Amino acid sequence: MTIERASANAFQLVAVGANRLLRLLGDWQLGEQSLHDELAERLRVLIRTGALVPGSRLPSERALGAALGVSRNTVTKALDELRADGVVSSRQGDGTYVTVSRRRATSHGGDRLRSFGEQRVRDAIDLRSAALPGLPMVADEFNRVDGSRTRELVAGHGYLPAGLAELRLAIAAYYTDLGLPTAPEHILVTSGAQQALRLAAAAFISHGSTVLVEEPTFRGAIESLTALGARLVGVRSGPDGIDVDDLARQVVAHSPVLIVIQSTVHNPSGSVLDGFRRSRVASISTRHNVPVIDDATLADTVIDGERRPIPLAAGGQQILTVGSVSKSFWGGLRVGWLRAHPDLIAELTAVKGGEDLGTSVLAQIVAARLLGKIERARDERLSVLTERRALALAAIAEHLPDWTPHVPVGGGSLWIQLPEPDAPAFVQRAERNGVRLLPGPTFSVEDRLADFVRLSYANDPETTRTGIELLAATWNAMTD
Ligand SMILES: Cc1ncc(COP(=O)(O)O)c(C=O)c1O
Repeated sequence: MTIERASANAFQLVAVGANRLLRLLGDWQLGEQSLHDELAERLRVLIRTGALVPGSRLPSERALGAALGVSRNTVTKALDELRADGVVSSRQGDGTYVTVSRRRATSHGGDRLRSFGEQRVRDAIDLRSAALPGLPMVADEFNRVDGSRTRELVAGHGYLPAGLAELRLAIAAYYTDLGLPTAPEHILVTSGAQQALRLAAAAFISHGSTVLVEEPTFRGAIESLTALGARLVGVRSGPDGIDVDDLARQVVAHSPVLIVIQSTVHNPSGSVLDGFRRSRVASISTRHNVPVIDDATLADTVIDGERRPIPLAAGGQQILTVGSVSKSFWGGLRVGWLRAHPDLIAELTAVKGGEDLGTSVLAQIVAARLLGKIERARDERLSVLTERRALALAAIAEHLPDWTPHVPVGGGSLWIQLPEPDAPAFVQRAERNGVRLLPGPTFSVEDRLADFVRLSYANDPETTRTGIELLAATWNAMTD
């Protein structure tokens, strides 16, 4: 079957690159059927749910096979199944397109279909998430919430869009202690840093506005900013953080409405910006009148050097700071915040109220108490991260000597350069060998960085060591 010209005209044709398709496919290898059946099944789900819209042009069979680390024949067989059902169509020399409406793309697999979010059945070592488990003191604080303050709060309506007063106070004290004088009016409590970043960015972005982000950067930022309609332009970022000369050039070249950076423990590179670069970023913001969002979610996981750097926002009026208790105490609290000018905080409080009426008060009570113990949390994180980072670096030096890890200054992951730009295919093969990690393009605004992987060392040391040994076996088999 060939794609109808009429239907081609009716759809907006969109080319879907191999790395983007890989991200959409997610955990497609379930190890329960043949690879081509599993691939066909997952593509069906993507089409049925609208993740791949009619008119989407798929990568060539050769490119998709290379990116997935499977043979071209496997891809051909998977697409043959979909072609036979009319779900996709191909024309010689013109590629393969999604052809059908969502309703027709029903699966023959029935209950074999899995939702995107469902846990994989098969055991695998997961080196993707760089978040440490929660600290025991989080559970201890939960055991203490039945005090008189809780009763007092429960006697009220509990809708607090700006956040619980004592938590806003505790966050203000946290910044003041770091050398950035802060009042509760500067703080909006959010459901994690992720919400803070999106709310703050939405205040500056309209459809098509240009935003400068680091290349690489945290995937959550790429997704949120893209969803707001921003056009993202990458600024080089390396082991010392953002390349300030490149930032200055790009600001002049693109007149962005916003710059988003991670000054204090960058995800994925683990860098921390030094004092000189901080002041240069701040002066670029002031001179060109461009606001900056500094996502400092990982700020309490610094391992080397100054453990409590003065926040970037101390250098400029237009610098907003995003923070969170996720990495210091526990991600499951879902408590983060935005620090900004009180006028903007008042405006965004109304927006947040309209979205979710406020973050869980129970979680905020616990977070407020925990923040008073931030120094202890930093110490506990430091000792665990120091040991696990050393172990991961040693295991890589031993088993994968041709890999080049950046030694992170903080956080729970290694950003590693591979000798060849094979990361997407390698990650797919590693998954089939029972270990998961993230390929560089996950962190790229331009689907580049195929010569990098991010490997977390947040697991217990034994798991990390076994994972790295499995990765070495996969790598050696692939490159021999
Ligand atoms: C840089 C960065 N920003 C934001 C987040 C999201 O944090 P939260 O759990 O507070 O929403 C993460 C989580 O990994 C992160 O790495």
